Amino acid sequence: MSDGSNSKPSIRTRIVQAGHFIDAETGATVPSIQPSTTFARDEDYKLIGQYIYSRNSSPTVALAENLLCELEEGFETRLFASGMGAATALIETLETGQRVTAPSIMYHGVKSWLLRQQKMRGIGLDLFNAADPQSLVKAIVPGKTAIVWVETPVNPTWDVIDIKAAADATHAAGAILVVDSTCAPPVITKPLTLGADMVFHSATKYLNGHSDVTAGVLTAREASARWDMLKQAQIGLGATLGSFEAFLLIRGMRTLFLRVEQASRNALAIARHFEKHPKLDAVLYPGLESHPQHKIAKDQMSCGFGGMLSILVKGDEAQTRGVAARLKVFTPATSLGGVESLAEHRKSVEGPDSIVPGNLIRFSIGIEDAADLISDLEQALQSM
Ligand SMILES: Cc1ncc(COP(=O)(O)O)c(C=O)c1O
Repeated sequence: MSDGSNSKPSIRTRIVQAGHFIDAETGATVPSIQPSTTFARDEDYKLIGQYIYSRNSSPTVALAENLLCELEEGFETRLFASGMGAATALIETLETGQRVTAPSIMYHGVKSWLLRQQKMRGIGLDLFNAADPQSLVKAIVPGKTAIVWVETPVNPTWDVIDIKAAADATHAAGAILVVDSTCAPPVITKPLTLGADMVFHSATKYLNGHSDVTAGVLTAREASARWDMLKQAQIGLGATLGSFEAFLLIRGMRTLFLRVEQASRNALAIARHFEKHPKLDAVLYPGLESHPQHKIAKDQMSCGFGGMLSILVKGDEAQTRGVAARLKVFTPATSLGGVESLAEHRKSVEGPDSIVPGNLIRFSIGIEDAADLISDLEQALQSM
């Protein structure tokens, strides 16, 4: 929070004002979309501005990157065409024989890609149990592990991983820690301030918040050879964000704090309401005192525990799908982090290889009236 003197306003104020944006030429308070793919040179053949070609970098994208970098308290940020674009560019920086450590249950798209890289390029993969801190330490192979990829809270069981402890174990083995903080946006957790080397988001989710942009982002805590390789990989792969998407992202981020706080309040109210429900085996939500890593969550999450929660239905897979199908206020759809609430039978979406329990329904809680969401899930469970 700012102290009201001449010091720089707080990050909350800076983000609402898109970095106190005022266009130098027109006075416009909203950044314009700069669609140019190419940037001219002067009579001495020097670039007129700092841009060459939009696959490398472009003004609207750079504005969004600078805001994100400020939010994360990082050194530099790069936006990508999707979360997967960012994750795969990072994996591309690895050489055959190097290893990645990652949770056994995590966002399935990144895990599938790591498994593919193991098969096709000989990138080692060591999986750990996100609910057991010792399992992470044991999965790291000193001298071989180059990247420890941690997702917290982890999708879709919402186990919380202690970022500080993970950073210590990772650094002791000479590797870097990358945190997928998609479900704990920087309003809640800033992994770089807890020792992570890079923070990743699917910006498709909370950062944009309106289910109308596909984007990914990586921010580094400091300069490094790996970060330089990542930027080369991004440009080589062409995994660049477009300027219209960057414009929408800037607009979405203006309400990031409000949205995330409201979604967190709603999620906590729903989790508390259903915690001891007779038709459920469990409610998985880091904000509940009964959550196994609630203490870690309290230490590394602020302004709430996020909008993601899952339920384990007291019933089999078919009954659980029935509950999901009867929801009327929640939209049955994948993805998360938008203002509208979504529900998903995760195992059906991940396919036959999924190790997610068949009685799990994942909810992305939005910013609607929590009472409507509670009565919707009540009616879906009552007809079981
Ligand atoms: C936790 C997490 N990481 C990464 C991704 C991949 O991001 P994108 O869909 O933007 O490529 C997702 C998408 O659902 C996600 O939920």
